[in-house]
Amino acid sequence: MDAAVKKKEIIACGLDVGTEKVCCLIARCRPDHRPEIIGSGYAESGGIKKGIIVNLEDAAESIRKAGQEAELKASVSIDWVTVGFSGDHIQSFNCRGAVAVNGRQHEVTQEDVSQVIHAAQTVPIPAEREIIHVLPQEFFLDSRGDIRAPVGLTGERLDADVHVVTCDSRLAQNLINAVNKAQMRVRKIVLPQLAAAHAVLTQDEKELGVALIDIGAGTTDIALITRDAMRHSSALPVGGIHFTRDLAVGLRSTMEEAERVKREWGHVLVDHVADDEVLEVAGVAMRGARDIPRRTACQILRDRAIEVLELIKDQIARSGFRDQLVSGAVFTGGGSLLEGLPTMAEQILGMPVRLGLPQGLPGLPDDLVHPVYATAVGLILVAVQDGGELRARTSRANSPPWIVNRFLSWVSS
Ligand SMILES: Nc1ncnc2c1ncn2[C@@H]1O[C@H](COP(=O)(O)OP(=O)(O)OP(=O)(O)O)[C@@H](O)[C@H]1O
Ligand SMILES: [Mg+2]
Repeated sequence: MDAAVKKKEIIACGLDVGTEKVCCLIARCRPDHRPEIIGSGYAESGGIKKGIIVNLEDAAESIRKAGQEAELKASVSIDWVTVGFSGDHIQSFNCRGAVAVNGRQHEVTQEDVSQVIHAAQTVPIPAEREIIHVLPQEFFLDSRGDIRAPVGLTGERLDADVHVVTCDSRLAQNLINAVNKAQMRVRKIVLPQLAAAHAVLTQDEKELGVALIDIGAGTTDIALITRDAMRHSSALPVGGIHFTRDLAVGLRSTMEEAERVKREWGHVLVDHVADDEVLEVAGVAMRGARDIPRRTACQILRDRAIEVLELIKDQIARSGFRDQLVSGAVFTGGGSLLEGLPTMAEQILGMPVRLGLPQGLPGLPDDLVHPVYATAVGLILVAVQDGGELRARTSRANSPPWIVNRFLSWVSS
């Protein structure tokens, strides 16, 4: 990466705090407003399970490591970060708000739009929950719907349908504390599948209707998007780790060995594996290696894949949007790399499936064009949309220690 930051520029930073890895990306906004990645950092996750922090020190250390690597490559110190936050505590629902259009000649203003979005989110939310997104889906003017940009149109009553995403505020605070301990500040918490959707979906897919499925290590995040708006989002507490664990138990091996076997030899379509293929698998605690039919390993992975895909199918069916997913499904996240999974997903979900890679960003190194980076790249796109911040090349040693032990203002559209 040769585009070192030499003078003050608009900089955006995305931090994907995943169960397996923490990834930090730094981008500068080019004059054409497109982000250009100038630094990336990667660290194995510590203290993070199923998307949530279970050990503050370890999580902060992973975040610090990824952040410092990205800072070093970009020659810029990070202050504010846009962070992805996953887990099955995330909940979402659709609702509607309404306001009267009282302005001059009943022309809708930006203020009316803000007010109607605000009105839509005044549903009671339990004290321990916090809203992270209010995503507009569609506006109605005097009951005429399918309006996306109402500003300037004329009418007496403006309604808005919105998708509201909430999280457990205590778990969010733990994430904020871990980021603060790593000497960065949370600018905004973002639903990871919303970020990934920005990075891997085409505009056509979002218009026609698509399911985005991010199979990570600890969670499987689902987003259903139709007519360019989020209609449903949810997270299942299963991911690649569960495949690995099944394999470790079934083959009586270590997690490390099971991970290797899964990546190198795993295939969920058992018929594609020859009868006589044999794998050498290391045993647990100095027990010698054993020969195991590859099919045995693949059958274990197949059973888990069927279970996960059935759960996804069930979520999609219960959302009520199944029939609107004309473009099918796009799978991303590291877990989607399991051989044969997209084909099996087509069979079980009954729709076309493709693998989603992050793309379309200048300066995106080839090694980041990979499903595990979909969320991190998407976070950059969200951060840039929010304006980024003006920063110059500075030394981290001059930065003050950040003490921000409170919720930062992140409510966003
Ligand atoms: N080639 C591969 N074949 C099968 N699985 C793979 C492959 N490469 C990575 N994985 C799996 O992908 C998972 C990691 O994916 P990813 O980096 O998207 O997770 P994460 O973002 O850290 O976790 P989460 O989003 O659940 O918090 C691991 O479980 C890993 O085993
Ligand atoms: Mg992830």
